[in-house]
Amino acid sequence: MSDRKKITLPYLFQKVQDKEPISWLTCYDYPTAYLQEQAGVEMILVGDSLGMTMLGYDSTLPVTMDDMIRHASAVRRGAPTAFVVGDMPYMTYQPSNELAVKNAGRFMAEAGCDAIKLEGGVAMAPRIKAIVDAGIPAIGHLGLTPQSVAALGGFRLQGKSASLAKKIADDAKALQDAGAFAILLELVPDRLCKLITEQAEDCIIMSLGSGPDAHGQLLIYHDMFGLYPKFKPKMAKVFGNAGEVILNGLKKYVSEVKSVTFPAAENYFGMPDNEYDELVKLTKK
Ligand code: KIV
Repeated sequence: MSDRKKITLPYLFQKVQDKEPISWLTCYDYPTAYLQEQAGVEMILVGDSLGMTMLGYDSTLPVTMDDMIRHASAVRRGAPTAFVVGDMPYMTYQPSNELAVKNAGRFMAEAGCDAIKLEGGVAMAPRIKAIVDAGIPAIGHLGLTPQSVAALGGFRLQGKSASLAKKIADDAKALQDAGAFAILLELVPDRLCKLITEQAEDCIIMSLGSGPDAHGQLLIYHDMFGLYPKFKPKMAKVFGNAGEVILNGLKKYVSEVKSVTFPAAENYFGMPDNEYDELVKLTKK
C-alpha cells in the first residue's frame, strides 16, 4: 500500500490555493483502485458510467444503488487514501430530497465514500442542499450529463452559444449557493469553464473535456487505456493501449492452448513416483 496520507477536503482546497491541478479518474474495481492509489491519483469517481464500461449496458440508466455500493466498496478497499466519490445513479435522487439523502448516506455508510456526485443544475440545487445539510459533501455535474443524454441530443458539446453557456453558469452558481464543494463541467467550451472557475467562490471546478483552466481534470479510465470497445470520445487522450495489449495476450493464450505450449512445466505440479504408484493401486477397479 502507499504511504500517502488520506486525501481530505482541506487537502483539495489547499491544492486550489497552491494552483496545483487536482487529478481525478473514474474507477470501478479493486485492482484498478490499487494501481491508481500507487500512481498518486488524488480523487476517484466511482461513476455510474460503470453501467456501460463494466456491465455493458447502452446507457447509465439501468444502474442501481446496489451496483454502485458493490463497486464503490471494492474501490475503497483498493485505494484507502484516495478521495472517493460515489456517483448517484438515475432516479436515486431526482424524485425527492428524502430519497437523495438516504441514497447519499448509503455511499458514505456502506461503501466508505468521501463524497457523492449528482447531475443537474438549478432544479437539483435543493437535493444538493439537503445532502450537504445532512453532513455529506456533494459535487454537482453540469454540461454533458449522461443521465439526460436523450434530452441533450446525444454525447455532444454543451453551452456553445452565449445564452446556453449563461444557463450553465447560472446552474453552477445555484449549485455553489446550495453548498456543493465542487462542480464537474463535462464537455463545455474551454472559455466557459475558465469563466466559471474564475468566478467560483469556495468551490472546486473540475474539467472533463472542458479545457485546462479548471482546478483539476477528470478522465474516464476506460477511455484513457482503450478499454471500452464501443467508442472513444474525441476529447479523451489514450495514455496507453491496454485493450490492445490484453487482446494480443488473449490471442496468444488461445493459440498456446491449441498448440499445447501452455501449460509448460513451470505452470503445474508433479507427483512423486511412489505416491503415484500407490494412487494407481487405490483407484484400480
Ligand atoms: O459516471 C461517470 O463516470 C460520470 C462521468 C461521465 C463524469 O459521471
